[in-house]
Amino acid sequence: MPPAIDIETLNNIRDSALRDLADAINATSSQSLEAWHTSYLGRKGILTNVLRGLSELPIEERKKIGTISNKIKTFLEEKYHTAIQSQATSSVTLDDSPFFDVTLPGREVIIGRLHPTTQIVREISQIFSTMGFESVEGPEVELDTFNFEMLNIPQDHPARDMWDTMWIDYTDTDGNYPMLLRTHTSPMQARIMKDRKPPIRVLVPGKCYRYEATDATHEWHFYQIEGLAVGKDISFSHLKGTLYEFVRRMFGNDRQIRFRCDYFPFVEPGVEIAMDCFSCNGDGCRICKGSGWIEILGAGMVHPNVLMGVGYDPTEYTGFAFGMGVERIAMLRHGIDDVRLFYNNDIRFLEQF
Ligand code: DAH
Repeated sequence: MPPAIDIETLNNIRDSALRDLADAINATSSQSLEAWHTSYLGRKGILTNVLRGLSELPIEERKKIGTISNKIKTFLEEKYHTAIQSQATSSVTLDDSPFFDVTLPGREVIIGRLHPTTQIVREISQIFSTMGFESVEGPEVELDTFNFEMLNIPQDHPARDMWDTMWIDYTDTDGNYPMLLRTHTSPMQARIMKDRKPPIRVLVPGKCYRYEATDATHEWHFYQIEGLAVGKDISFSHLKGTLYEFVRRMFGNDRQIRFRCDYFPFVEPGVEIAMDCFSCNGDGCRICKGSGWIEILGAGMVHPNVLMGVGYDPTEYTGFAFGMGVERIAMLRHGIDDVRLFYNNDIRFLEQF
């Protein structure tokens, strides 16, 4: 038969439970704490027994006493858990573990680090930010419109072959594939110009994808950094000045750079920029494949068609753009000879940076 329940009985149970708990803690053995738990809160424990008797009480009483008993129960459970925890931490004493040699050196904690690609992206962004370029990111799943069309590369134009495209398996109502994994970061040029008014100076780092086989110098996914500056009176000399400064800051004061004509549909004129080989100073070696020069990026003056496509008047505004492969810059910077290393996640490679 459960004992008669009133508030006083409950308070007495709580007080004696606390006293017994203090004794159990002093006993510093986990069994005594467990025994305490069984005798008060276990299935046949004192408090459990009291709670069982609640149903005998009239409804009003039952509510009142029920709330108080539950509070006491939670309170005692908490005390018990705290006691268990502090016993667990304090039980690791030298006396308990005679074989613990406090003079041993600690184990080295291996901390993570930034991926070399991330490090280079940050370094490049930092260099350009001091020249007033703001970093912006864009979508990796892109619309044909931005990736090609608005960059002066219409449907069925042979220039599309310059990018081996991974299309998203989704067709619009005309049966066309309007979405792809972006083949370069250049689509952000169109997105940014469409949404803003000049002056614009942005840098767009991001991941790109191409449908191609991998080898030491090709990956099907890689990082690019796009640059774009648009405003009044922006000329080719601004492009040259900006990229000279970038190369100087990235590769040192002694590097020369060379501009040669190249074709990209969204710029006119378009250029390929190479730097004299840091390994042989232009004499020709294995790294520069004997030419003395290493290609580092593509660039040019934004094509009037691109400016008109985003609603700018090309007689009022001009601009320059450039795009570079981040892994390529990192490879040159650190003397890495295989781009696939960036994606293998081999810790022996990653921990060198
Ligand atoms: N998007 C080009 C590529 O992936 C690189 C590029 C060339 C970007 C010239 C530019 C540019 O902005 O002006 O091959």
